[in-house]
Amino acid sequence: MPTNRPRRLRRTAALRDLVAETHLRVDDLVAPLFVREAITSPQPIESLHGVVQHTRESLRAEVVGLAELGVKAVILFGVPAEKDSIGSGAADPQGIVQLALADLRVDVGDDIVVMSDLCVDEYTDHGHCGVLDEHGNVDNDATVELYAQAALAQARAGSQVIAPSGMMDGQVAAIREALDGERFHDVAILAYAAKYASGLYGPFRDAVDVTIVGGGDRKGYQQDHRNAREAQREIDLDIAEGADMIMVKPALAYLDVIAEAAARVDLPVAAYHVSGEYAMIHAAAERGWIDGDAVALEHLTAIKRAGANVILTYFTRWFAESGAES
Ligand code: PBG
Repeated sequence: MPTNRPRRLRRTAALRDLVAETHLRVDDLVAPLFVREAITSPQPIESLHGVVQHTRESLRAEVVGLAELGVKAVILFGVPAEKDSIGSGAADPQGIVQLALADLRVDVGDDIVVMSDLCVDEYTDHGHCGVLDEHGNVDNDATVELYAQAALAQARAGSQVIAPSGMMDGQVAAIREALDGERFHDVAILAYAAKYASGLYGPFRDAVDVTIVGGGDRKGYQQDHRNAREAQREIDLDIAEGADMIMVKPALAYLDVIAEAAARVDLPVAAYHVSGEYAMIHAAAERGWIDGDAVALEHLTAIKRAGANVILTYFTRWFAESGAES
């Protein structure tokens, strides 16, 4: 008969709670929200169950509601009515995200952290995260200049945390310099530092109405999923450039990258549980093949266990409402 019996501590729920190493809390979570220009009612996103493209008004109501539920942070994505080759809407003071940021700061002030994703793919007619050169490649340095302009527009509108997601080299340094040049010393940068060219972003592209021209992809700027060490190099570069927090994205297929970052880095580590990860849970749960709530909790807890203390997830409202804890 065994003397060492780990099962002793698994016997009751109280014992299990007592020895649990990881606790997921609502203040670990950030809700990604979409706001679309020129619509009069919220538009459902078929591939993202329960997530909508908001109007300015419905976004305000949603964020006030989330704050009441105890959610501590949201991140905004804009869907403009018009797209062009350089994604002008991203830096336009009247652009949809800028207007929405200003609305939210009036409504919720400092009660909730208002973050803004910074990229131009939602705003370009070709769907890439930057401007194209004469060969159709994304021009890194010209794009970084656009990002600096967009960062200033977001900061002027009241963003508290700017999250560049385009994976251009030098983007964090350029944004920090632009922000400091206008004395936005307090605006933080959450760098999407290790962002992979993933097959899991499909539903997000429905959410922001993005199709990459010519059936293209982002492999020329986002990371190759075969590489882990490269992610640490990206993270180090972003920290050296002035990032305040770093992010790994997607989350579950990259728990090794999250764990390594958490062990090496002394900044907060964020992870994005992306649209495809969310959609897979819903699709399987809808068919009765898995218990969606249980899997959602298991996934989010695993991301935290790996070392992320900030988790961007479409499950934020559900988690806050259900009062689920793990
Ligand atoms: C780029 C961006 C993407 C996501 C967040 N920011 C898509 C992409 O890189 O193609 C994906 C988020 C998700 O899938 O939930 N602006």
